[in-house]
Amino acid sequence: MKVTVVGAGAVGASCAEYIAIKDFASEVVLVDIKENFAEGKAMDLMQTASLNGFDTKIVGSTNDYSKTANSDVAVITSGIPRKPGMTREELIGINAGIVKMVSENLIKHSPNVILIIVSNPMDTMTYLTHKVTGLPKHRIIGMGGALDSARFKYRLSEALECPASDIDGMVIGGHSDKGMLPLTRLATRNSVRVSEFLSDERLSKVMEDTKVGGATLTAMLGTSAWYAPGAAVSSLVQAIACDQHKMFPCSALLEGEYGMNDLCIGVPVILGKNGIEKIVEIDLSDEEKEKLAESAQGVKATNSLLSEVNA
Ligand code: 2OP
Repeated sequence: MKVTVVGAGAVGASCAEYIAIKDFASEVVLVDIKENFAEGKAMDLMQTASLNGFDTKIVGSTNDYSKTANSDVAVITSGIPRKPGMTREELIGINAGIVKMVSENLIKHSPNVILIIVSNPMDTMTYLTHKVTGLPKHRIIGMGGALDSARFKYRLSEALECPASDIDGMVIGGHSDKGMLPLTRLATRNSVRVSEFLSDERLSKVMEDTKVGGATLTAMLGTSAWYAPGAAVSSLVQAIACDQHKMFPCSALLEGEYGMNDLCIGVPVILGKNGIEKIVEIDLSDEEKEKLAESAQGVKATNSLLSEVNA
């Protein structure tokens, strides 16, 4: 199993590290445009192999996509991260051109690759990748909901004062501060609805803290987070690499599912060796359907900006 990670910045390098430590891939190729940066990150990570006990081979490449040839999965993290006070949507002007170039380079050398998009604004970058590559919809996956769900579980574990491993919960909708939809109605603590333990007021705070989870960390760190994003995308890669048939909320191209068309937005999907094996349509309350529709309007509004940035 060969995996390429484009962008050797904090998210990309964390993703590569988690993939290596989980040791399910034979090779990880880290690509960056900065001279020797990916090569340096790869060497530093390889020097942890004897300490962390993995056999995965990590190599770096300065913008030489021939090194990525015949990748099974490729993760696109390249582009600029947001600064404090910025929205993800404000990154479109720079990141759209980068994602377009990167995805074209990847499929040139790996025509059968499954692409996972992390670069922001992620739902729109995922949609752009469909337009640019024309790959079948099951082979283009946007990573946002897996990260948002991890933050949702963290906030619930904080409120319940219990381990996050006791929590099951999912965030669907757009990967945006306003468009995210944490499904508090369905979240459970060991199969018991969390609403049995928490007041509506507390659940609303959990929902709001989840939605701004990325912005909260960007304000604290001065840049976007990287550990949880890297871990989230490595989990998607593992589900594909190991044909796990695991369900994650991912940004997927909708063609009628949830009554929506021509956009990529976070919905539950089953991931396996072919990428998206199935989009799962769950029963939503009228309020949840309304919020998902509002979120979709926000994503489509960002998508409409692509023509202005010539992507
Ligand atoms: C985040 O929410 C980078 O969008 C990513 O941290």
